[in-house]
Amino acid sequence: MSGGTEHLLAALFMAGVASAMGYRSTTDLDATPRTTVTFDELSGVRFFSMHTFNYSTLLLEDDQGILYVGARGAIFALNSTDVADGSHRTIHWEASPEKRMDCLQKGKDNKTECFNHVRFLQRLNSTHLYACGTYAFHPLCAAIDANRFVLPSHFEEGKEKCPYDPARGYTGLIVDGGLYTATRYEFRSLPDIRRNLHQRPLRTEESPLHWLNDAEFVASVLVQESKDSPVGDDDKIYYFFTERAGEETTSFYDKSQVARVARVARVCKSDVGGKKILQRKWTSFMKARLVCYIPYYEVLRSVCTLDAGNWASTVFYAAFTLSAQWRTMEASAVCRYSISAVQHAFEGPYMEYQDSARKWSRYDGAVPEPRPGSCITDHSRRKGYNSSQDLPNSVLDFVKLHPLMFEEVKPAGGEPLLVKKNVAYSQLAVDRVQALDGHSYDVLFMGTGDGWIHKAVVVGSGIHIVDEVQVFRDPQPVESLVISHVQRSLYVGAASGILQVPLASCARYASCYDCILARDPYCAWDGRACSPTATTASAGLVQDIQSGNKGCRSSSGRGFPTWKNRTVLQGDDVLLPCDQRSNLARAVWLLNGSQVPGAGQDRLRVGVDGLLVTDTLPQHSGEYRCYGEERGLRTLLAAYSLSVLPELPRGPTAAPRPHAASQTDGDMKVAYVSAIVALVVLCAVLSAVLLYMSCLEKRKGKYVLGEPRPASVELQTVSANCLRKGRREEEEEEELTYPDGCLRIIPGEAPTAPTSPVKELPAVVPPLPPPPPLPAELTNGVGALPNVLRKMNGNSYMLLQQQEEPLASPLYSASFTEELSKILEKRKHTQLVEKLDESSV
Ligand SMILES: *[C@@H]1O[C@H](CO)[C@@H](O)[C@H](O)[C@H]1NC(C)=O
Ligand SMILES: *[C@@H]1O[C@H](CO)[C@@H](O)[C@H](O)[C@H]1NC(C)=O
Ligand SMILES: *[C@@H]1O[C@H](CO)[C@@H](O)[C@H](O)[C@H]1NC(C)=O
Ligand SMILES: *[C@@H]1O[C@H](CO)[C@@H](O)[C@H](O)[C@H]1NC(C)=O
Ligand SMILES: *[C@@H]1O[C@H](CO)[C@@H](O)[C@H](O)[C@H]1NC(C)=O
Ligand SMILES: *[C@@H]1O[C@H](CO)[C@@H](O)[C@H](O)[C@H]1NC(C)=O
Repeated sequence: MSGGTEHLLAALFMAGVASAMGYRSTTDLDATPRTTVTFDELSGVRFFSMHTFNYSTLLLEDDQGILYVGARGAIFALNSTDVADGSHRTIHWEASPEKRMDCLQKGKDNKTECFNHVRFLQRLNSTHLYACGTYAFHPLCAAIDANRFVLPSHFEEGKEKCPYDPARGYTGLIVDGGLYTATRYEFRSLPDIRRNLHQRPLRTEESPLHWLNDAEFVASVLVQESKDSPVGDDDKIYYFFTERAGEETTSFYDKSQVARVARVARVCKSDVGGKKILQRKWTSFMKARLVCYIPYYEVLRSVCTLDAGNWASTVFYAAFTLSAQWRTMEASAVCRYSISAVQHAFEGPYMEYQDSARKWSRYDGAVPEPRPGSCITDHSRRKGYNSSQDLPNSVLDFVKLHPLMFEEVKPAGGEPLLVKKNVAYSQLAVDRVQALDGHSYDVLFMGTGDGWIHKAVVVGSGIHIVDEVQVFRDPQPVESLVISHVQRSLYVGAASGILQVPLASCARYASCYDCILARDPYCAWDGRACSPTATTASAGLVQDIQSGNKGCRSSSGRGFPTWKNRTVLQGDDVLLPCDQRSNLARAVWLLNGSQVPGAGQDRLRVGVDGLLVTDTLPQHSGEYRCYGEERGLRTLLAAYSLSVLPELPRGPTAAPRPHAASQTDGDMKVAYVSAIVALVVLCAVLSAVLLYMSCLEKRKGKYVLGEPRPASVELQTVSANCLRKGRREEEEEEELTYPDGCLRIIPGEAPTAPTSPVKELPAVVPPLPPPPPLPAELTNGVGALPNVLRKMNGNSYMLLQQQEEPLASPLYSASFTEELSKILEKRKHTQLVEKLDESSV
């Protein structure tokens, strides 16, 4: 089956199942990042990189002001105030040449695997850190004196603590000196949750049932449930992973593929194993299915946790990507879970494996006392069970055979907070921010597989994506995210280095409207500027996280646009650029104070980043104002005074222009030669002046150079922005943009009217190949609209082959434009647009 058909089928299936199950559709659950900040527009960031790769393991000690980083062959101690200030300390910890040779002989990849990837780095005690590295497939661990910051002379065996494979899913924690790790350690071994560095090392059971099936671990979290517990409960460690489903799942999957599902498991901190049964094994292991948006999103990618000082308020945020059968598409879902939902599943009925039927089903028989899998509480102590070793055999036997719970853990609100197409979230971090309205809001930082960070605020059961920021120029997965409240920074670890980004860049918002529309809980309008709330006295500040449009007295702010004059010759095309900073805004144009009609008769086309006036007439002269309209607020973004000079007298055959093409070639040549000669002198002078003027305006102003054109010259490509923006390859960028940043008109072959004969003009740019077919789920109907302006990565228009009379088309109505802008914005970073981009060059 071809990729396209596969997509289409999958999309149709997903749409069908979604509606059948009564979910909100994925379109309703989607959210468009309000603003887009590309790598070149980043400010206030610091980057650290030191001749190595894979800066994946971060340990922040905010009170010490140190960010420790485990990388390939090295551990760094960075100043968390400024990771790039040059004061870093380094531990070189490369795999020895013998071990590397060994690793190569095992047939491992010499470019990635046969190194010492530091995968574990945590505080062991007040003086020492504990680190583990893969050491070219011979894992080693070491206790490192944090002050001296040198490798010790003695290393510890790492094979039960650290995976051999640097890419294997792995999670680890140090709790009260005990090392709790979960991974598949060696290629041949089974995945396992282990406790080491402890008087009572423990692991999971493998017979007769495997408690874990090909598990790929994502995260582990300590929840201190013993704190103020009225029942004398124990602290618990929760594990998040994806594994092969043993039970029947609701998943729709190819019979050749095994369904994988997301899970949460937990163990008790005071577990010491059983005496005869489950000796040196967990007696408190339980697992349950973690549901986000089934059956599609079953692969867990990242989990982050937040508790507001007491464990009962703990929430988990989890990012999922599509299950294997849809892996050719990229999409993510984000869900939120409360600790009580997780506990509820663990307190519910168990599942049992029926050997005869060879399947898992709900267990409804008698359950022994104390409840199998629970921690030792006051209740069990009163019955004489002081530790897990005292538990009766009946309980331990039951635990052995019933690791799986019947109930699923459902997300808060029953559905995802976000379902985002064309994005694979690889990491999450969460912060809780006190807003001026007295509420606390959770702010999620979501790293993508291609080096972007989406910052989102959770409002009720929905999510608003404040911005998307490209933090690495070269696409690479965001591998770790850590938030520092002291530094008000986010540290981003990836293959090429560590980036320190401010949690908020309030100064980016130039007006009061812009500041509140952003709905960034870190920012508020103080009357003059958008400032960080943390550093400003809260009196008189304006902020509106809930609805994002209240509180401003006017749209005042700096950066008020200045009038620009534009003069063109009648018949020319002109683009009045208007950069909508917000992807959620709709462009509204006023001409002499009244709204520019969207309908095409006036030869006006409202696009996502400007107004295009084609074949201008003197009556197009006037004052044009461009507004961004968002949540009912209008912000003036650009203002132009357009003068269309009447056409100079020329040969009688020169007009009317659109019909010239239908006359005989001989007549036309004469007419055009004289017209061209007459106009060239004027145009040369005019062009020079206008070019100078337009490029004076910080290379922001774009202009159409008035040139006499043969009748069938067609506007094919218009680049509307001189600034480099977007993620295109450099060569492509050069191809599409004039060096002076001005509009480019390419003579093409297409006739201006259906009746015109086709002229034999050389095509400079070959006609666009048709875009690849898109699955309905991803296109939002855009594929069905051929004669439209398409925005390409936010900086240029494509006027796709105009075969029909486009000007009379109802497609250019205001509502359509609005619709189109939204659709195009959503598609801005899609693979599909990128592909289209490449093929259009
Ligand atoms: C980090 O840099 C800041 C500012 O330069 C300095 O005040 C601080 O002492 C440094 N911290 C450490 C741990 O070196
Ligand atoms: C890795 O192996 C390839 C092919 O075997 C070889 O060409 C290359 O030089 C090796 N690279 C290193 C860093 O050893
Ligand atoms: C911390 O652990 C290291 C390594 O086990 C040990 O040498 C050191 O004495 C410990 N420090 C304290 C303060 O317990
Ligand atoms: C380490 O970085 C290299 C180079 O960017 C990358 O190819 C590789 O996949 C990374 N390995 C891991 C385990 O992240
Ligand atoms: C449990 O502890 C209590 C008090 O510490 C003690 O009296 C009792 O004998 C212990 N029970 C067992 C089974 O060890
Ligand atoms: C706009 O106003 C100018 C002068 O104020 C006038 O010349 C022009 O014709 C008007 N344009 C339209 C479209 O009404």
